[in-house]
Amino acid sequence: MNTVIETLVDIVAKDPYPAEFTSSYWREYGKSNVVERRNGDLYLEDYGIGTVRGSWLAGHTLHAAERFSYRSVSSAYRSYPAMWNLARELARDLRCSLTFDIWKYTVILSLLNDHWIDHKLFPRTVAVIGDGHGFLGALIRRHLKSMRLYCIDIPKTLVFQARNHEAADPQARLAVMSHGGDDSADVVFVLPQDVLQIRDTIDCAINIASMQEMNALTISHYFSFLRQRSSRQSRFYCVNRVEKTLPGGEVARFSEFPWRKDDEIFIDGLCPYYTHFFAKQTLPRGPKILGVRIPFVNYFDGDTMHRLVRLASE
Ligand SMILES: C[S@@+](CC[C@H](N)C(=O)[O-])C[C@H]1O[C@@H](n2cnc3c(N)ncnc32)[C@H](O)[C@@H]1O
Repeated sequence: MNTVIETLVDIVAKDPYPAEFTSSYWREYGKSNVVERRNGDLYLEDYGIGTVRGSWLAGHTLHAAERFSYRSVSSAYRSYPAMWNLARELARDLRCSLTFDIWKYTVILSLLNDHWIDHKLFPRTVAVIGDGHGFLGALIRRHLKSMRLYCIDIPKTLVFQARNHEAADPQARLAVMSHGGDDSADVVFVLPQDVLQIRDTIDCAINIASMQEMNALTISHYFSFLRQRSSRQSRFYCVNRVEKTLPGGEVARFSEFPWRKDDEIFIDGLCPYYTHFFAKQTLPRGPKILGVRIPFVNYFDGDTMHRLVRLASE
């Protein structure tokens, strides 16, 4: 096992869910994520951190139909064809299949890349908060080769990310922020409580389907960190549910995130690539024709917002 993965596995063994930064959602569902050493090997079982694996057949039938159903959305992004080629290559290298989430990460990078080109921005530091398996971060690194990536997440999930970053780029220099996080590293893994150790300005921060499962303290902690590391060129892309009720009864509301009036907003509204998904099961929520549910096409549990913003500095 690579030393960075060893370090992260040791952190998991001591404190898999830092109490202050773990919501009731992750206290409940985090247990289903398994990160263990078994007979000297690393044993991982993921739950609720995004879907990047599935059958090849589903990727080329069900999810191909899904991508077709979203064609008017993806074709609006000029960078999409090139990013989809990159995503397919990365999926092949990581033995992932072409799931909804992989397509979603591609659309996200396409949207951001169009914006960077239009605004003549050249991001050199990117922070992905809550990147699940790390596919989006790895895809961004394939596109922006000489940037530094900060992967900010709870310890167990960082192990999944470290494995995928190592496989995506075996030459990459990986580091853990709290264990000597090296200024020359390409990918730095950061625990929630250590974000203020990051000295770089963050050119682009991204949070997808993740603040919606955090407690209010954690959300304001990240906003405060991003405001402290924000420059005139910085961007924050936030894609989260309009509202989500967590098992402990807390409600995470997009509109109640600590936005400020002097934040400069570039994109804001319902997220066009987060309306429906195709699955083998036809769930109760979904479109109907003449009162009959269309098989395999399902709505998400709630609407999702997206906002691209320059956070005003603190
Ligand atoms: C539903 S998954 C979303 C994964 C990915 N962004 C996607 O859209 O497919 C939620 C992510 O938030 C992470 N997360 C939960 N609590 C967190 C915290 N306090 N700080 C950072 N990430 C957290 C989880 O570990 C996971 O990576």
